[in-house]
Amino acid sequence: MLDNLNQLRDDALSALSPIWDEQQLEEWRIKYLGRKGALAAQMEQLGAIPKEQRAAAGKLANEVKNALETAYEAKVGAIKQRALSESLEAEPLDVTLPGRPVAHGRLHPVTTTMRELYRIWGDMGFQVFRTREIETDEMNFQLLNIPPFHPARDNWSTFYIADTEERVLLRTHTSPGQIRAMRAMHPNPIRVILPGMCYRYEQITARSEIQFPQIEGLAVGHNITFADLLGTMTEFARRMFGENAKVRFRADHFPFTEPSMELDVECFLCKGAGCGVCKYTGWLEILGSGMVHPDVLRNGGYDPAEWSGFAFGMGPQRIAMLKHDIKDIRYFWGNDLRFLEQF
Ligand code: DAH
Repeated sequence: MLDNLNQLRDDALSALSPIWDEQQLEEWRIKYLGRKGALAAQMEQLGAIPKEQRAAAGKLANEVKNALETAYEAKVGAIKQRALSESLEAEPLDVTLPGRPVAHGRLHPVTTTMRELYRIWGDMGFQVFRTREIETDEMNFQLLNIPPFHPARDNWSTFYIADTEERVLLRTHTSPGQIRAMRAMHPNPIRVILPGMCYRYEQITARSEIQFPQIEGLAVGHNITFADLLGTMTEFARRMFGENAKVRFRADHFPFTEPSMELDVECFLCKGAGCGVCKYTGWLEILGSGMVHPDVLRNGGYDPAEWSGFAFGMGPQRIAMLKHDIKDIRYFWGNDLRFLEQF
């Protein structure tokens, strides 16, 4: 029995030493240490041997068991270690190399411009009010004093998307939001901006896109005068273009405002001297505005005998183009990283 145990230990240990594979190791464990393995078989025989030899045999059997288990554990560790060093050798890693730079995402220049405009108008007490991009002809035109076949419609080439009894279209400007804001807020005073996407059925050129954002503004209250409009526009220009920005108002015409005007700021590139950006006029056109037409107030539910207001509409892309000297509006939606990564 003792000889058998010693033999078993020697056999097992010498079988273990060439093993470097987990599968073979498992087979080895089952063969020698398993519940039906060689050592268990020896231990089963302990009961059958004479009593005076049993203690010595039992002791040796335990020693063999410990020796095999220790050798087994050591092998498990050694195999792991070898696998690790092999993989380290196969995939060398130089921890002293400088890290790869992480590519940062960034905001689109139109987004940053819109946010700056929200901030400025927010500081001046204007709340954001969003209205739909799909509008009716009535909202987009008729309630803004532009009846069917009115020549002013030529200013807004329109995508009609359903020619049912009530014509449905993609809004050509954010101005229909004026009617919706008034109807939603009546009979309270109003001070809102209406940002959002607009669409025009036009040739795409360096200066015009078929899809573009606008920001409309609307203030309605008692005793709002043209002087309030001039003051608000001047203050806006200073906040947007700098404390010393010079502004100029030019008479214009929009069917939904009376009187109407355009706001120009002095070209911040040439300071009025004349350059390519301002087309040698010294001035940049920024927005259209005016006093809300009495018909429009009435269409919104406000009695023009008691209420008055002003409105304005601007193109954030145009402002971004001026600020960053972007020569072609098509860059904005072009998804060209060489353009986008400059901001
Ligand atoms: N809706 C006009 C456009 O798209 C811009 C505009 C002009 C809006 C004058 C206004 C305004 O609110 O008063 O060209």
